[in-house]
Amino acid sequence: MGRLFCFLLCILISMPLLIVAQPLSTDSRWIVNSESGQRVKLACVSWPSHLEVVVAEGLSKKAVDEISQDIRDMGFNCVRLTWPLFLFTNDTLASITVRQSLRNLGLFASISGFQANNPSIIDLSLIDAYKEVVASLAKKQVMIILDNHTSKPGWCCSTFDGNGFFGDEFFNPEVWIKGLTTVATTFNDTKYVVAMSLRNELRGPRQNVDDWYRYMQQGAEAVHAANPNVLVILSGLQYDRDLSFLVDKPVALTFSNKLVFELHWYGFSDGQAWKTGNPNEVCGRLVSETMTKAGFLLTQGFPLFLSEFGMDMRGTNINDNRYMNCFMGWAAEQDVDWALWTLTGSYYLRDGIAGFDETYGVYDWNWCNTRNQSILRRISSLQYPFRGPGYAESREHRVLFHPMTGLCVKRISILKPLILGPCTEAEAWSYSPQQTLTIKGTYFCLQADGLGKPVKLGITCSDGNSKWEAISDSKMQLSTNLEAKKSVCLDVDSDNKVVTNDCKCLDNRNNKCDPGSQWFKIIDSTRRSQSGRSDFFHEIGLTGEPIARTIISLWEGMQLTIS
Ligand SMILES: *[C@@H]1O[C@H](CO)[C@@H](O)[C@H](O)[C@H]1NC(C)=O
Ligand SMILES: *[C@@H]1O[C@H](CO)[C@@H](O)[C@H](O)[C@H]1NC(C)=O
Ligand SMILES: *[C@@H]1O[C@H](CO)[C@@H](O)[C@H](O)[C@H]1NC(C)=O
Ligand SMILES: *[C@@H]1O[C@H](CO)[C@@H](O)[C@H](O)[C@H]1NC(C)=O
Repeated sequence: MGRLFCFLLCILISMPLLIVAQPLSTDSRWIVNSESGQRVKLACVSWPSHLEVVVAEGLSKKAVDEISQDIRDMGFNCVRLTWPLFLFTNDTLASITVRQSLRNLGLFASISGFQANNPSIIDLSLIDAYKEVVASLAKKQVMIILDNHTSKPGWCCSTFDGNGFFGDEFFNPEVWIKGLTTVATTFNDTKYVVAMSLRNELRGPRQNVDDWYRYMQQGAEAVHAANPNVLVILSGLQYDRDLSFLVDKPVALTFSNKLVFELHWYGFSDGQAWKTGNPNEVCGRLVSETMTKAGFLLTQGFPLFLSEFGMDMRGTNINDNRYMNCFMGWAAEQDVDWALWTLTGSYYLRDGIAGFDETYGVYDWNWCNTRNQSILRRISSLQYPFRGPGYAESREHRVLFHPMTGLCVKRISILKPLILGPCTEAEAWSYSPQQTLTIKGTYFCLQADGLGKPVKLGITCSDGNSKWEAISDSKMQLSTNLEAKKSVCLDVDSDNKVVTNDCKCLDNRNNKCDPGSQWFKIIDSTRRSQSGRSDFFHEIGLTGEPIARTIISLWEGMQLTIS
């Protein structure tokens, strides 16, 4: 199964995996490796192990090593492995075997599946089973982030579940520190365990900033003392949506270059706002709010780990779809580290339901194939860094990112229309103060050529049709003027060609429209494009403007003949 899976996936996502030299540390807002100081972009998937069974999900469906291999083959370099505190503080719980745990919950179908797929794990204690999963991931060179998800095993999270904040029923700060220390010590020197997140989604009526500083600082120190190798990840208040209090008061720690902050952002973080509002307006507003509540940390010189985001993989949830178009643009532009929620195809038991189907899961119910290959491929466009230490193979330029597809504007040849392609093959642009988009190192600029028609590359770049303004509240629609001052927006047609169409959805009262296909983000990049520079212009050694003019008129003539 694993091989077939890989075969199918590798064709679609042929992205090499970063092999990482540990331990990791931070260099301003970047996470870097210890050896060369090169950026390591965390591109993780969450693998829950904090539910009632207290075993990593899916082991009744597939061998642990096959799952680890799939994770790699899908291009993730890291797993956010969740754990419930009590696994590390309650020896009675920790010493129950997997088989007993499943039996206690009446999960007999899972027992036979587990026996068939992971016979060497089923009779291990819960704590040893957890370590086996860590070892399997490490064997496949997948980094691991240990995430203290809950105290009491079970589905997380709600405001009154007693797991929300220091002092809640199941959240005794002393037990917490003790647990953190145990975990950090247990995995001290465990290769590939690169970070620990102290606590998932702080929330509820008790939350307050004073206790946050008090206990988070203590927790961070405890982890660092027990395991100086791991990055320490701190989450914010309000379900990990709010770190704004850090604007005025940084955390005070005795160690440096190990601190990372985390943020969660889902479509449902804002209820049904995406569905009931105008996508341009909602995107503009929520991106700005996200920057105020957490994104500012990047400019303060801290890495921000977007440790939970995700969408309904059926593609039928309008709220999620609109959110994802906006989120992808933001995540690519900020080039943040991230963890997708979730790997799970189905749970042994969630919310009292055996075999609970996870519609946000990467795997299908059976943990056999991917639930939605096109969505996964799209998210995979965020797996590679656009910039950061060690990614300066190319001079600074811009790429035109299309969040709805996860693709970038690319050029096959001067004679063919611009299309969308993998961002690893993105065309490199410069964006001038006059708002012209010029192919870096050439005189060719992007021009509108007519309604519904492919855009073209021209060299008379002072005309109205060469000026591209980012409009609407989302600032993701690139608008230009055709003759007679008609305003059009960059778009993509059904053939994947980059065209211009009437600008959609500019009236903020309209919530029925979806401008997704017209959303582009102009992103800073220093990464070399794999398309290389061995293209038409360079092959003929074209550098001077006079030659360019000759060639372009020749080309425009040919275009006329062709069309
Ligand atoms: C420890 O775990 C066992 C088994 O789940 C449970 O019965 C017991 O109540 C737990 N003890 C504490 C102190 O939570
Ligand atoms: C995990 O978080 C819970 C809060 O529910 C806390 O009680 C517990 O001590 C934490 N454990 C560790 C090891 O961080
Ligand atoms: C953890 O590992 C480090 C480095 O290998 C070592 O110096 C330290 O003593 C260990 N700490 C504990 C608590 O085991
Ligand atoms: C995958 O998602 C797309 C939307 O991005 C949707 O159109 C398609 O139906 C989904 N496929 C499956 C198999 O759910």
